[in-house]
Amino acid sequence: ADRSRPVDDRLQDLCGLLRASVPHYNWVGFYFRNGKREELKLGPYAGDPTDHTIIPFGKGICGQVALSNQNFVVPDVSAQDNYLACSLNVKAEIVVPIFVGGENIGQIDIDSHTTDPFSEADVEFLETIAGEVARIL
Ligand code: SME
Repeated sequence: ADRSRPVDDRLQDLCGLLRASVPHYNWVGFYFRNGKREELKLGPYAGDPTDHTIIPFGKGICGQVALSNQNFVVPDVSAQDNYLACSLNVKAEIVVPIFVGGENIGQIDIDSHTTDPFSEADVEFLETIAGEVARIL
């Protein structure tokens, strides 16, 4: 890996690569804790622009993961009460937290236009990616 390139550029490339490589990954992005605030801030992403550039802890799927420190696989977003819609095309979502030194500092967020597309293989794959991302932060 080219360690001289800015982290955001490398994460941007990773988002594009994931989105282009996996047909059921339609939006791929990173949210990170916004300093010491109890909120997430949108980082690099690939896919349609989203209004949700700041998400308070507890709000939506992403905000819940900021508090739970657990993966959150949503096979059908229409069944979720606490959900922030980015696009009417989105049917499913997966959010995997990123830990640095045991602290939940952000997450990988993926939206799919397919209902129930995420398997255990996606979870394991994205946990591996989250671990690799943690190493470069
Ligand atoms: N759907 C997310 C908001 C972020 S967009 O998916 C990019 C949520 O409910 O937290």
